[in-house]
Amino acid sequence: MKKTTLINPEIEAYAEKHSSWPNQRSESIVYDTTTDLAYADMLSGNQVTGLLRTLISVSGAKVVAEIGMFTGFATLAMLESLPENGKLYAIEMNSRYAEIALRNLEISPSFHKLELLFGSARERINELPNGLDLVFLDADKDYYPHYYDVVMEKLNPNGLIVLDNVFWHGGVLKADKDRKSTTIDALNARIQSDERVENVMLTVRDGISVVRKLP
Ligand SMILES: C[S@@+](CC[C@H](N)C(=O)[O-])C[C@H]1O[C@@H](n2cnc3c(N)ncnc32)[C@H](O)[C@@H]1O
Repeated sequence: MKKTTLINPEIEAYAEKHSSWPNQRSESIVYDTTTDLAYADMLSGNQVTGLLRTLISVSGAKVVAEIGMFTGFATLAMLESLPENGKLYAIEMNSRYAEIALRNLEISPSFHKLELLFGSARERINELPNGLDLVFLDADKDYYPHYYDVVMEKLNPNGLIVLDNVFWHGGVLKADKDRKSTTIDALNARIQSDERVENVMLTVRDGISVVRKLP
């Protein structure tokens, strides 16, 4: 995935500077991701994790899920925002990424809230329990529509689905769309006409949709 440049980089840096900066452990995840993997383009970034933190805190979410844990950057933010009896189900299929995530997450006081479902989300998503309060969709764009449908059924009334990369680097605007841009554009349109939900699409980084299931 190429780094998103839709937002003016100076404005993005300004926004980061004026947002609560995460703790040392998240810095350590960024360090490990950039040194061990030599790239960090898949990290969701502070605007996204800041939004997730706020949504979890103000909604009182207790049971959340992340589809695509990568090296645990958003996972840590969400774990720390959950109450002590909260639970986060994280799905990841890449063992190298999961190893970096666990190395950093297991020293967090919130580690006990994590349950890793290792393997492909295409199967493991079915193991998520009912009663989810928030789901962060951030993997396997071809299957976003399927994941949206599966988690919608498992979501509590007023529960939230947060979808990352809904602009697909601007691909959704192109007349000649590639496969993933076509899939995401069609899902964006479907969400817009989904009578079960209220949604807001935010121009944060590569686009974030926050979808609330109506009671
Ligand atoms: C954009 S990254 C996730 C970033 C992460 N949420 C964060 O905040 O830093 C996408 C992740 O999804 C994983 N992934 C891709 N396809 C998957 C699948 N079918 N099942 C499980 N994980 C998948 C990739 O290995 C990668 O770690």
